[in-house]
Amino acid sequence: DPEETLQPRPPVVAVMGHVDHGKTSLLDALRKTNVTRGEAGGITQHIGAYQVTTKDKSKITFLDTPGHAAFSEMRARGANVTDIVVLVVAADDGIMPQTIEAINHAKAADVPIIVAINKIDKPEANPQNIRNRLLEHEVIVEEMSGDVQDVEVSAKEGTGLEDLIEKINLQAELMELKARPDRDAEATVVEAQLDKGRGPVATVLINRGTLKRGDTFVVGTQSGKVRALINDQGKQVKEAGPSVPVEVLGLSGVPSAGDMLTVVENEQRAREVAQYRQEK
Ligand code: GTP
Ligand code: NA
Ligand code: MG
Repeated sequence: DPEETLQPRPPVVAVMGHVDHGKTSLLDALRKTNVTRGEAGGITQHIGAYQVTTKDKSKITFLDTPGHAAFSEMRARGANVTDIVVLVVAADDGIMPQTIEAINHAKAADVPIIVAINKIDKPEANPQNIRNRLLEHEVIVEEMSGDVQDVEVSAKEGTGLEDLIEKINLQAELMELKARPDRDAEATVVEAQLDKGRGPVATVLINRGTLKRGDTFVVGTQSGKVRALINDQGKQVKEAGPSVPVEVLGLSGVPSAGDMLTVVENEQRAREVAQYRQEK
C-alpha cells in the first residue's frame, strides 16, 4: 500500500484463555453489557466481535473466543486475525490446558500477549503465582524483566479495566497499525451461519478498505452483493472501514470461517470467480 494513503486503524484484540476464566465477563464489563447471562450453560460457543470506544475516543476491536476444549480451531482463527491477544487467567485457578494452548496460538501467529489476571476479588486469588507459572511457558512479565505486560483485573467488580485499556493502547501504539480506507474492501470471515429470516449471514472483520452497501464480492466459494451491513450494536450502517466487525447480508450461501471476502467489479465477475472456485 502506498505510504501516503495509510491511516491509523484500531487494534484487533482477541480475548483468549481457559474455560470460565472470565473472558466474556471481562468484555461485558468493558462494554457494560451482559452477554454472559444469555449464554447457554454459561459457555461461549462462537466468536463475538465488538468495538469499544475508550475514554480518549480511540477504538479497540475485541474478539471473544470460547475456552472450551472443543473450540481449538476458533481460538486459532482468533489468534490469526488479531494484532494483540489478551490472555485471561483466573487468579484462583491458574495456568490450565487452554491457557497454554492460547499462548501457543499467539506465539505461532507472532502476536504479542497482554496477560489479564482476573478474579482478583476472590480471597483465594494468587496473582504472583500466576506470574511465576507463566515463566514456565516463556511468558515473562515486565516485573520479572520480561517484555509482556500484565494487569490485575476483576470483571466482577470492574477493577483494573482502565489499566487494561491503557496497556492495550500502549502495545497498539508500538505496532503503528495502519490500513488504507480508500480502496475496495478485503475482510476475513470470523463466523457465518444460515439465519432463518435473513438467509446466509457472515460476521466479517475488515482488514483494509471500506465495505459498502451495494458492493459485489467473492467470499470463499460464495459470492454476493451487500444487501445490508449491521454493526455490533445491531444497527444498520452504510459502510465499514478497517478493523470494524460487521455482519454482512446478501450472500449466495454460507462461507467458511477464515474465508477472505474480496470486493470485485460486478455481480457477473463475482459469480464467475465463485463458480471457478467451486469447481476446483
Ligand atoms: P467460556 O467462554 O465458557 O470459556 O468462559 P469465559 O472465560 O467467557 O468465562 P465467563 O465470563 O463465562 O465467566 C465464568 C464464571 O466466572 C462466571 O460465573 C462469572 O460470573 C465468573 N467470573 C468472571 N469474572 C469474574 C471475576 O472477576 N470475579 C469473580 N469472582 N467471578 C468472575
Ligand atoms: Na463460561
Ligand atoms: Mg465466554
